[in-house]
Amino acid sequence: MESYRIVPLSHLSAKQVMSIAQIHVLVIDSLLSELGLLVVQRYYQIASVDTSVIGCCAISQSGFPLGWAIGSSAPSQLNERLRAALGWRSLLRALIARPRLIWQIFISSRSASAPLKPDALELTYIGVDVPSRKQGLGRELLNAFLAQAQARDFQSVALSVEADNVGALALYAQAGFQVINSFREGRYNRLRMELKF
Ligand SMILES: CC(C)(COP(=O)(O)OP(=O)(O)OC[C@H]1O[C@@H](n2cnc3c(N)ncnc32)[C@H](O)[C@@H]1OP(=O)(O)O)[C@@H](O)C(=O)NCCC(=O)NCCS
Repeated sequence: MESYRIVPLSHLSAKQVMSIAQIHVLVIDSLLSELGLLVVQRYYQIASVDTSVIGCCAISQSGFPLGWAIGSSAPSQLNERLRAALGWRSLLRALIARPRLIWQIFISSRSASAPLKPDALELTYIGVDVPSRKQGLGRELLNAFLAQAQARDFQSVALSVEADNVGALALYAQAGFQVINSFREGRYNRLRMELKF
């Protein structure tokens, strides 16, 4: 793997933010990915300037993103900003192209995961592009994210992960996350995990 540095999401160029969105669509199996690249790009554009967001990105020496970890103390506010930025028309267009997502969105809006505590941060996404995996980058990104969370005085980090995502589960467990709940969200079987500082 090319050498890299860890950089805050807010320091990336517009082109690098677009590349993160492209990797997201390729590696993260989520409702956001299913809404398509344009929606994911908008999400990261919004996140890169949102003060509730902590984002740590690994950028190679030649300037390409290799992976990232992103979270927010107000994840639903971030989703609301995305919806407002897209407008109902683009959202409807995205849904008309993918009608089966309508049910998934309905289910997600009634998600059984616990609400975020006031002094907690949600780790929303972490991903490493396929060629750079299994070389310690995921762990380094997660550690950088947790260090930022502690530096900002958050008392805990929570996340939801698919119950069959063996790699991510092992990564989180190694970092000290514990399963606190399990729930079903549409086609996803998820575990809720928490790390207290
Ligand atoms: C999960 C992910 C970020 C791990 O990134 P990575 O750079 O490959 O991880 P690392 O090399 O830092 O591995 C750290 C630890 O994670 C665990 N791990 C990572 N990949 C694993 C796999 N495929 N199977 C089992 N354990 C795995 C191991 O415990 C590993 O520690 P070890 O090497 O000492 O055994 C990466 O596989 C990925 O991007 N997956 C797709 C996106 C995703 O599922 N994100 C999580 C939900 S949003």
